[in-house]
Amino acid sequence: MIEFISVTKRYPNGAEALKNTNLCIEKGEFVFLVGSSGAGKTTILKLLYRELLPTRGTIKVLGRDVVKLKKREIPFFRRNMGLVFQDFRLLADRNVYENVAFALRVIETPTREIEKRVMESLELVGLKGKVKSKPSELSGGEQQRISLARAIVNQPAIILADEPTGNLDPDTSIDIVNLLRVVNLRGTTVIMATHDQEIVDRLRKRVIEVEDGEIVRDQLKGGYRHEA
Ligand SMILES: Nc1ncnc2c1ncn2[C@@H]1O[C@H](COP(=O)(O)OP(=O)(O)O)[C@@H](O)[C@H]1O
Ligand SMILES: [Mg+2]
Repeated sequence: MIEFISVTKRYPNGAEALKNTNLCIEKGEFVFLVGSSGAGKTTILKLLYRELLPTRGTIKVLGRDVVKLKKREIPFFRRNMGLVFQDFRLLADRNVYENVAFALRVIETPTREIEKRVMESLELVGLKGKVKSKPSELSGGEQQRISLARAIVNQPAIILADEPTGNLDPDTSIDIVNLLRVVNLRGTTVIMATHDQEIVDRLRKRVIEVEDGEIVRDQLKGGYRHEA
């Protein structure tokens, strides 16, 4: 369902963030994207949600050739994806309910359907009781759970999480990753870029390691570091 064929990404300043990369991810997989800072993880995720276009190569997501998407098709295409970021990216002036509902309002969902889906998403992340809170009134872990609720409210086929535990303590990080596992068990493909060695070693999922814009390891049930 996700395929990179000979993908190269060069930024305008000449930095080659991805070099002739091939990659295939099937529906329902849980994949850790690991590698040191600057390796190219975020670039891969941005190419997947069409924030960036590749310099060369083909990217296929859910049967679509991402490079060929027309501008007006991009919002519709992105509804298939839930995004989670290290810095949460919640709307500071909106409460929890509105932050999660926002993604549905954009696509003209009936009010009653919005309410049902928002409450289901908040229930899944365990924060139904916080609908009226502002993000600033929540802990980091709670804010990330809200952003996860927002990511799943459209029932996307794919979740892309870019260092979602990067600002959280170890216990809270495990909570977030366990929620991603629950979402994955319901059939959603999850791709998570991370530096978190403990989590990667604990979960034993597929690990794709990137180094200097190249995939240097692709291992089923892998750990953070390659064992001989
Ligand atoms: N907007 C940009 N302009 C120029 N270079 C960039 C830009 N974004 C990332 N890079 C470079 O591309 C490489 C990969 O970056 P990135 O994908 O963000 O890595 P990671 O997420 O693994 O830390 C790095 O060398 C980085 O400096
Ligand atoms: Mg990054």
